[in-house]
Amino acid sequence: MSTPLNLSRVFKLLVVVLFFQSVHSQLQVGFYTTSCTLAETIVKDEVQKAFFRDPGVTAGLVRMHFHDCFVRGCDASVLIDSTSSNTAEKDSPANNPSLRGFEVIDKAKARLEAACRGVISCADIVAFAARDSIVLTRGLGYDVPAGRRDSRSSKASDIPGNYLSRHSMSTTSLNFSQTRVSHKKKWLLSLVRAHTIGRSHCTSFSNRLYNFNATTNQDPSLDPAYAAQLKQQCPQGNTNANLVVPMDPASPIVTDASYYAGILKNRGLFTSDQTLLTNPATANQVKHNARIPLLWKKKFSAAMVKMGQLEVLMGNAGEIRANCRAINS
Ligand code: HEM
Ligand SMILES: *[C@@H]1O[C@H](CO)[C@@H](O)[C@H](O)[C@H]1NC(C)=O
Ligand SMILES: *[C@@H]1O[C@H](CO)[C@@H](O)[C@H](O)[C@H]1NC(C)=O
Repeated sequence: MSTPLNLSRVFKLLVVVLFFQSVHSQLQVGFYTTSCTLAETIVKDEVQKAFFRDPGVTAGLVRMHFHDCFVRGCDASVLIDSTSSNTAEKDSPANNPSLRGFEVIDKAKARLEAACRGVISCADIVAFAARDSIVLTRGLGYDVPAGRRDSRSSKASDIPGNYLSRHSMSTTSLNFSQTRVSHKKKWLLSLVRAHTIGRSHCTSFSNRLYNFNATTNQDPSLDPAYAAQLKQQCPQGNTNANLVVPMDPASPIVTDASYYAGILKNRGLFTSDQTLLTNPATANQVKHNARIPLLWKKKFSAAMVKMGQLEVLMGNAGEIRANCRAINS
């Protein structure tokens, strides 16, 4: 009589165990609460210090998280330095020379290694730093589910053909069917676009000013007054590859919906921003976001949480890098 009962108990226990295992195979808010209590505080402190030195670095850190997550998942592959035998993601034209903020991650990592050796992944540091950057620029804060592990490889060749390729990204209207983007990612791209903070290199959009196509030099979808202003900031034939302009000139260090208001006035800096208006669904989103800024802030923060969970390594996969710039030997 007792045997079937025990069996069913065993079965229930198994179900419970499996349930908790599946729960633990997800990223978790407060992942380091017991293993390294100060983890998130230390990252925040370093991002804050960097912000006071140069507020623009926060934009770099948000973009870093995006570029990390969209190429083989949020696994800190974007942080790896190239070696004599490997050109890493970091040195792809999508990232070099425009991606910034690496030194902030290095400083946080050094302190974290001193406090809790071998515990905090570089991928989690990037995710925390992006959130802290959004808070410092007056966006809405959010809890970051953590427990990501770091990749053991990084290849620039993972990027071409992908939508991150710098030129196709800024100058064309982004034909998604030509890219290796999953539906989930497409959804995120239409939602997240943090082009409310930070800067762009003139080279990322100067074709819209000077050589749009065979018949028109200047992109007619760009507000002429804004184009004139951009031409002063980015003179034709200027060979200084470091020239930059703010993407949302009215509030370059505030995470707000004014970027969407700008698009409605034909002041989106990139073609890929401006073409959000050409599709009725995304055009509606742009209008909605411009009209109800607080709602956009909420959607943006929620989308960042989702983006941070793309194809993560967990459990025993990957490693916890000792130095974010190199895989452990
Ligand atoms: C279709 C999607 C996207 C395209 C085509 C795109 C394109 C670009 C380009 C061309 C730049 C200028 C880089 C430079 O010349 O310095 C830029 C900057 C930036 N992007 Fe995007 N982006 C996209 C999506 C996103 C997403 C999803 C995020 C954030 C979650 C993001 C955040 C940023 C930030 C914060 C900057 C400023 C970086 C800085 O100031 O250092 N972008 N983006
Ligand atoms: C996008 O690319 C696909 C595949 O190359 C092509 O069939 C389609 O016509 C393109 N769409 C646009 C709007 O250019
Ligand atoms: C150049 O762009 C303009 C405006 O979008 C368009 O009307 C024209 O047909 C384009 N010309 C060529 C050759 O693509």
